[in-house]
Amino acid sequence: MKRRAKPIWLLGIILMLVACSPDAERESIKPEEGPPSPKEEEPIRIGFSMDTLLEERWLKDRDLFKEAVEALGAEVEIFAANGDDALQISQAERLIQSGVDVLVIVPHNAEATAAIVHKAHLAGIKVIAYDRLVKNSNLDLYVSFDNEQVGEMQAKAITELVPKGNYVIIGGAITDNNAHLLKKGVFKVLRPYIENGDINIIYDQWTKDWTPVNANANMEEALRTTNLQIDAVIAANDATAGGVIEALEAKGLAGQIPVAGQDADLAGVQRIVKGTQTMTVYKPIHMLSEEVAKLAVSMAKGENINAGQKVKNGKIEVPSVLLTPIPVNKSNLNTTVITDGFHSEEEVYQE
Ligand code: GAL
Repeated sequence: MKRRAKPIWLLGIILMLVACSPDAERESIKPEEGPPSPKEEEPIRIGFSMDTLLEERWLKDRDLFKEAVEALGAEVEIFAANGDDALQISQAERLIQSGVDVLVIVPHNAEATAAIVHKAHLAGIKVIAYDRLVKNSNLDLYVSFDNEQVGEMQAKAITELVPKGNYVIIGGAITDNNAHLLKKGVFKVLRPYIENGDINIIYDQWTKDWTPVNANANMEEALRTTNLQIDAVIAANDATAGGVIEALEAKGLAGQIPVAGQDADLAGVQRIVKGTQTMTVYKPIHMLSEEVAKLAVSMAKGENINAGQKVKNGKIEVPSVLLTPIPVNKSNLNTTVITDGFHSEEEVYQE
């Protein structure tokens, strides 16, 4: 068959069709721009389920954790349940359903939140407990400060000042495993004094939700039922110590009875300067938030996590990282919380 000369306009149309077809396009790009860039890696997403933001320290934890996660190129979604167990569980479910890579949780209730760990694992999501342990669950990792040591530091500081006398223990929330660890540390130090009759525990009560109001009510009850025969108070944190000192102030006893606290809240360190609170225990929160952020991102990448310690949670020995707290009183305020920028000198000394 003799190939007839195709009319020019027909050739033009064919070339155009070839040029506009997608295959052609890709073909045309490929040689020029090299291999197509891999699909943009989704940033790692961390879910952060918090108990509460109604206390100074947790606001810091939220901000410092967000900063630390984002500094690692990951994203974080944060919920706070303000002490409502059902709300915390439903917020965690939303994070699980949204497909976070790892779930970090500050439990309000150490037992009730075991359900969250179970649900997360069903979705293939690992769970890290932040500062507070989740009990009776297959928790993947626990990162906190050594809370027993916090209690020991409180009791050591107060027994140095009051080796004999009537002690009041204003505990933390019974739902919080830290409150139990703290109390264990306190009684480890007090026991020998109690056994030889030097120290008498005349009042010992948990404080619902760690609130100053509940601590104040507990302390008023202690003052009433002991006819003010109190020589020292160990309060589980600065928020509860604030409630205690308010009750002492009402009886004109503030500054006369040593009071221990925890957290180095601004109001707590200001009371130490003023002399109505004896000491607090400082926990550099940036260390905790950076450690958890680093481990959460590693976990999301499927990397091996080597946690140096193990903590029993009633079901398993949870791989754990326990950081060291710092006892603080008037003599080392400057070299601890102020040097760290946890509070400014102006704020602490209210200049
Ligand atoms: C504990 C925590 C303390 C204290 C308390 C109240 O679990 O370890 O630092 O702040 O909660 O929220």
